[in-house]
Amino acid sequence: MDKFVIHGGKKLSGRVKVSGAKNSVLALLPATLLNSGINTIDNAPQVNDVYTMIKLLHQLGVASEFSEHTVKLDTSGINSMFAPYEHVKKMRASVYVLGPLLSRYGYAKVSMPGGCAWGPRPINLHLEAMKKLGAEIELEEGYIIAKSNKLIGSRIHFDVSSVGATGNAMMAAVLAKGASYISNAAIEPEITQLAEYLNLMGAKINGVGTTVLEIEGVDELKPASISNISDRIEAGTLLCAAAITKSNIQLEYNSPEHIDSVIAKLADSGVQTSFNDGILSLSAQITSASSVDVTTSVYPGFPTDMQAQWMSFMSLAEGTSTVTDNIYHDRFNHVPELVRLGAKIEVNNNSAIVKGVKSLRGAKVMSTDLRASACLVIAGLAAEGTTEVLRIYHLDRGYQKIEEKLKTLGADIQRETTTEF
Ligand code: EPU
Repeated sequence: MDKFVIHGGKKLSGRVKVSGAKNSVLALLPATLLNSGINTIDNAPQVNDVYTMIKLLHQLGVASEFSEHTVKLDTSGINSMFAPYEHVKKMRASVYVLGPLLSRYGYAKVSMPGGCAWGPRPINLHLEAMKKLGAEIELEEGYIIAKSNKLIGSRIHFDVSSVGATGNAMMAAVLAKGASYISNAAIEPEITQLAEYLNLMGAKINGVGTTVLEIEGVDELKPASISNISDRIEAGTLLCAAAITKSNIQLEYNSPEHIDSVIAKLADSGVQTSFNDGILSLSAQITSASSVDVTTSVYPGFPTDMQAQWMSFMSLAEGTSTVTDNIYHDRFNHVPELVRLGAKIEVNNNSAIVKGVKSLRGAKVMSTDLRASACLVIAGLAAEGTTEVLRIYHLDRGYQKIEEKLKTLGADIQRETTTEF
């Protein structure tokens, strides 16, 4: 098991490249189940969740090659419609195989993902969408068994905007007979890119990037290639790391519009950013950042996946801020760990009240999930003394060698093997 040992207090400077987006590639990979042949996905991050998804696709009969950042997937030998618990329990995004398998083969047996570190995270919307398209769904011994002769186009309205359910519904509807309409569809960049990829395969999706998708089912899809977008959450995480250490950094990141909500909040706190020629620069020439409230919401609102990192930044800001999570009401496992570093934070329902302190002190802390780990690394970079972040296997699920990027920027952070759990 690995941990990070961080000697805090170093200013960051220099330039790093933001990796490809984890959450979009986790949708692009299973989308290839919809065709037969060789697909290519460029700019895929080398992170454990991506390896987990590729293993699941192998289990279904997909052959793959992952070199550097390019994944080639040969879907001509798919021979199973079964996604076992062993794979799905590791990663909720595994449920993305449901829509494509069902629409292409008329059958899928996919393990229910179960709970997660910060709450139940149901999949009812995914299942309701499949039923709307004509599937019969049974839940048996922890498995979803979905069956249909041919899916039939339908009107699907999501009461709650859901990234995963929109992705699954789209992947099911593209091969259904006739037209489907999805309203209150998620418009996160990862879902927009999935729709673009499906269209490259020959799908007929209109309204891409809007909350209303019109999909005309087609008989078959062909293999396609795509270059994945860059990871907006990694970009935001690095910006928070620079902001908390009052540093100046540059990111090779070409989609600043994907994190406008974070950039706007940084500006409110006194931290300036600028974008020129594919480089997003941040300059935190401040004695102390101002406290700024954030409330998470669906895109283009402030992302829930940046809430924990923002809280670290605010723990050293001047004044009091409120961080409210409207997407996941319980996503506050990082709070007790930040408090161990000297932060003053109280959680009240789905809000955390953060009273800025003058300094944080290094301590041993424990990652509880992916973004919680990132928030502890950020806090450790600014804390006096040494911070050890344990259980960073959570972080390795979604950040490609973040410690190397931080080292390039001048941080004192080491990965060490430990027997501590
Ligand atoms: N929801 C339901 N029923 C459903 C599905 C969702 O009630 O069937 C609710 C959820 O409980 C939540 C809201 O809808 O309150 C939104 O959840 P969503 O379905 O959009 O989340 P997801 O697709 O499971 C993706 C990301 C998450 C990110 C969320 C929100 C992937 C692989 N995961 O999850 O990423 O937090 O969208 O933006 O794309 C992360 O990267 O750390 C991460 C957790």
